[in-house]
Amino acid sequence: MIRMRRKILWASCFCFASAFFLVLTLQVITELGNSENKVSVISSVHSSPLKPGERHDFHFKKQELHSSFKTESDVNHYPVLLWWSPLTGETRRFSQCGEDICFFTINKTYQHNEMTRAFLFYGTDFSIDSLPLPRKEYHDWALFHEESPKNNYKLFHEASITLFNHTATFSRHSHLPLTTQYLEGVEVLKSLRFMIPLQMKNSLRKRLAPVVYVQSDCNPPSDRDSYVRELMCHIEVDSYGECLHNRDLPQHLRNPSAMDDGNFLKILAQYKFILAFENAICEDYITEKLWRPLKLGVVPVYFGSPSIVDWLPSNKSAILVSSFSHPRDLARYIKTLDTNDEEYESYLQWKLKGDISNPRLLRAMKERKWGVQDVTQDNYIDTFECMVCNRVWENIRRKEKGWLPQRWEAQVNHLSCPKPEAFWFSSSNPGWISLQKMWIPSFEQSKKEAWALRHLVEKNKNFTAEEFWMLVFKE
Ligand SMILES: *[C@@H]1O[C@H](CO)[C@@H](O)[C@H](O)[C@H]1NC(C)=O
Ligand SMILES: *[C@@H]1O[C@H](CO)[C@@H](O)[C@H](O)[C@H]1NC(C)=O
Ligand SMILES: *[C@@H]1O[C@H](CO)[C@@H](O)[C@H](O)[C@H]1NC(C)=O
Ligand SMILES: *[C@@H]1O[C@H](CO)[C@@H](O)[C@H](O)[C@H]1NC(C)=O
Repeated sequence: MIRMRRKILWASCFCFASAFFLVLTLQVITELGNSENKVSVISSVHSSPLKPGERHDFHFKKQELHSSFKTESDVNHYPVLLWWSPLTGETRRFSQCGEDICFFTINKTYQHNEMTRAFLFYGTDFSIDSLPLPRKEYHDWALFHEESPKNNYKLFHEASITLFNHTATFSRHSHLPLTTQYLEGVEVLKSLRFMIPLQMKNSLRKRLAPVVYVQSDCNPPSDRDSYVRELMCHIEVDSYGECLHNRDLPQHLRNPSAMDDGNFLKILAQYKFILAFENAICEDYITEKLWRPLKLGVVPVYFGSPSIVDWLPSNKSAILVSSFSHPRDLARYIKTLDTNDEEYESYLQWKLKGDISNPRLLRAMKERKWGVQDVTQDNYIDTFECMVCNRVWENIRRKEKGWLPQRWEAQVNHLSCPKPEAFWFSSSNPGWISLQKMWIPSFEQSKKEAWALRHLVEKNKNFTAEEFWMLVFKE
């Protein structure tokens, strides 16, 4: 497979304040690995553009760095896929995706190029400003968005998501589901590397709480801190992060990059329970918060995707916050397990036996075409690019044969993130205030933004940010 491997460094972050709300934008810097291969084409004949039959006249070979396409005219023979968000940072690259070759660029001058077939957007920095309009009927729009809605609520509504033909999101209903994006493989789940025997955990309990919480992104839309604050009234929780902090990490583990540090993981592994609370509640939005305790051999107490049981390694591998009507009841249950070794270990049997019984999880991991932190595999962005490239080519071939094009659209129900809700016992604490003052109004406004976006895109004319905001606030 002659694909480029790229390491993506989520590097800098800047804030953009609109009239009322904050939209966080992540700027992504792409780093080119040293060992990458560029595709080189040795071609004999170039004739009219996009003749799929002629693709076989080209020969590909791996070469060291910069020997790629030399002339601008090569571009005229391949579909151009234009990253409208400069996610990859690459101004020109030919990639081979199975049989198909596409030209990828972030160079916006290609908007009006006749070979341009798709615009690729990155959700977090999707901006209504200067969208590639007018959109031609052969201009596919593709969305890559692995983040929670917290980063860009307006894309999470039917009106906006269905503007896209191709999607890669955390949802299982996406064309390229990234649901397991934080899980390296099933082996890491089964691994006993960090697992601490229960007897030792029991003796560590003399100086540690039964439950640990580590969160430094406080008061997000899920209102998790309000829940944890209440939970803390009923059971001891060691909290090492900035949110509800009550216990210090060693100095060298106090920065966010230490979250994957072996020593930090060893500290977490000493606990019996880890609070695994997502920052937003969406179907299939599952992060390392769930997988980390499972890897470490600690029982996760999970709050997040309502259908999480669909993804758990076994029927008894996590405690779900949603099974309890009040944090008091959850605390009581945790205390029961804390004093009953057999009951507690029943949550770890799957791991001790190395037995992952969830067919959906196993299948997803087996069929996944991309890797996580794995240089031997394509990453999810490579795979996304190739999915769009293959689909674009499919329609080119259909056109050649005089067939109707294949139509693609994001599934309507695809991103299911209900309106954020504050916990009822939490009024007057900072979590509740964030919900009332920020996340709920932001969600409500995002519906208007989604509607305005759709309205303006359907007019298929260049529009300005002013026109957009006027429409949003007129509503
Ligand atoms: C963008 O592409 C145009 C040709 O379409 C080229 O003239 C220009 O130099 C490119 N810009 C960059 C930054 O590569
Ligand atoms: C959970 O149990 C049910 C019924 O016993 C079974 O059908 C299902 O496959 C199990 N799920 C997992 C993830 O093991
Ligand atoms: C892409 O979506 C647009 C807007 O919904 C639609 O007009 C177009 O036919 C779609 N293209 C494909 C290839 O599905
Ligand atoms: C769209 O609007 C921007 C800003 O008003 C302008 O620079 C750009 O040339 C316009 N594009 C088209 C295709 O009209």
